[in-house]
Amino acid sequence: MEKPFSSFLELVNQRYSVRSFNSNPVDDELIKQCLRAAHLAPSACNAQPWKFIVVNDPILKNQLADATSKHIVPMNHFTKQAPVHVVVILEKPNLTSAIGSVIQNKPYTLIDIGIATAHFCLQATALGLGTCIIGWFDEKKVRKLLQIPPFSRPVLIIALGYPEKPDVPAKHRKPFENIFNYNKY
Ligand SMILES: Cc1cc2nc3c(=O)[nH]c(=O)nc-3n(C[C@H](O)[C@H](O)[C@H](O)COP(=O)(O)O)c2cc1C
Repeated sequence: MEKPFSSFLELVNQRYSVRSFNSNPVDDELIKQCLRAAHLAPSACNAQPWKFIVVNDPILKNQLADATSKHIVPMNHFTKQAPVHVVVILEKPNLTSAIGSVIQNKPYTLIDIGIATAHFCLQATALGLGTCIIGWFDEKKVRKLLQIPPFSRPVLIIALGYPEKPDVPAKHRKPFENIFNYNKY
């Protein structure tokens, strides 16, 4: 169900990393809406260097969740609760983006992936869904599980589902005044 938001900032404020999900399944049409939002993301030279693998098969999803958590460190142990995982794959960019990235010494493709992932997550929030972006996982295991070819790279996994609790936790951010200046560094 699309939630009413009075402003974009309110939507942004409602998004947080959900690490506790209930077991309700996510309707495929809602996942498609999130993918549509990602599809419309900007990218350097319009390269769109991404592919999204929706993992909703429960067994495969749990195997994927296992690849995100280590038993020795308390890392990502919550991922199994999320009924869906969306793996964000970095694809080869077009030539202009690749050349531009070298000349400018900036990882355009990773920036692009980040923006598309943000689009996905914000759309999910607007639909009442919860997300957590996962950057820490066993890449080899993920590659093998999803049969990802050598020139494509899984860089993020989005844990997706319904938050167990309705409240949005307090934000921990640097003081607002510290993150910008006007007219000089
Ligand atoms: C690129 C990236 C990788 C992340 N990796 C993980 C992760 O592996 N595990 C996790 O629990 N959270 C992960 N996060 C979530 C961040 O910890 C979280 O966004 C940050 O602490 C701010 O909290 P908030 O999302 O609740 O506002 C990641 C976020 C980003 C953008």
